[in-house]
Amino acid sequence: MSFGTKIIGTGSGLPSRVMHNAELETFLDTSDEWIRTRTGIETRRIANPEKGETSFTMARQAAEQALEMAGRKGSDLDAIIVGTITPDTVMPNTANQLQAVLGASRAFSFDLQAACSGFAYGMSIIDQYMRLGTIRTALVIGVETLSTLVDWRDRSTAVLFGDAAGAVVFERTEDPDHRVIDTRIFSDGRLGELLCIPHGFGKVPPYRPEYQLHMHKIKMRGNEVFKVAVRNMVDASKKIMQAHKISKDDIDLFIFHQANLRIIDSCAESLNIDKRKLWLNVQKYGNTSAATLPVSLDEAWRSGTVKQGDLILMATFGGGLTWASALIRL
Ligand code: UT7
Repeated sequence: MSFGTKIIGTGSGLPSRVMHNAELETFLDTSDEWIRTRTGIETRRIANPEKGETSFTMARQAAEQALEMAGRKGSDLDAIIVGTITPDTVMPNTANQLQAVLGASRAFSFDLQAACSGFAYGMSIIDQYMRLGTIRTALVIGVETLSTLVDWRDRSTAVLFGDAAGAVVFERTEDPDHRVIDTRIFSDGRLGELLCIPHGFGKVPPYRPEYQLHMHKIKMRGNEVFKVAVRNMVDASKKIMQAHKISKDDIDLFIFHQANLRIIDSCAESLNIDKRKLWLNVQKYGNTSAATLPVSLDEAWRSGTVKQGDLILMATFGGGLTWASALIRL
């Protein structure tokens, strides 16, 4: 008998404002046609801090939904991990702020930075603690307000991103049939410059003369990132399936990082996957970084697309570079 990790609740927090491609056409040299054909994206949500929409408030909404579905209270939590590169404040971190409002006084809480892979990294850490038996109930969130880090004059990145939060409540289980089967997390710091935010932090802080506001924004060598993203998500997916002697045909739903429809299609082609088994919401939300996996899982579960007993493979990829895969039997 061994301990493992079971998913018992999911939730999402999405800002109310929907930005269509047509709006981007009004201030960028771009077109709805280019964005749709090159990325699949049609709309994205953009947070309005003046209406109180921030990473913290979206994360709180997602967490409260997930706890309600799970039938748990904040005081039941032993751990809170938030994957984000856009916290409202660096200190206190988002997880500490959530701990306070959720009344999770017993929980340890921290943010982790792994860009788009933040949720998958958090889930992997929680799964290790669960297997050791040291925690019973945990909350993992992926949240991002990338609209604050996008250079709205740069058409090569401005059209891609959106804001969102997704949350999952995990609980320790001894049931071998319904659990996180495995998680694999990877990184390659040598490729960090392909996707980065050059200014605004310790290297070039805002008070230094060489600081430039437009360098305090996301810079991406999109074409190179595209190729590495496909290669690494395919590799991470193959590794985790092979390790557990699971074939692609055994998987009920594939949730890949929602960055670009063409990236998801390329992964599906490389793995020879039936495209009806792909989860897709990049058209609606764009790339919400760490939030894409938990928001997708929440939608797939609440819509009845997946049910208890189904096998899910997740794979993600992001700045760092970081990437990850997970196999979950609901
Ligand atoms: O979540 C983190 C990981 N991030 C990603 O996974 C993103 C990975 N990369 C991508 O999704 C794609 O590379 C992009 C969508 C960013 C770009 O698509 P692409 O097919 O790789 O286009 P490209 O960068 O090769 O650019 C093709 C052309 C260029 O024009 P020229 O040089 O051929 O004249 C760009 O200047 O498209 C131009 N272009 C645009 N045109 C209209 C770039 N962005 C736009 C735009 N509208 N928004």
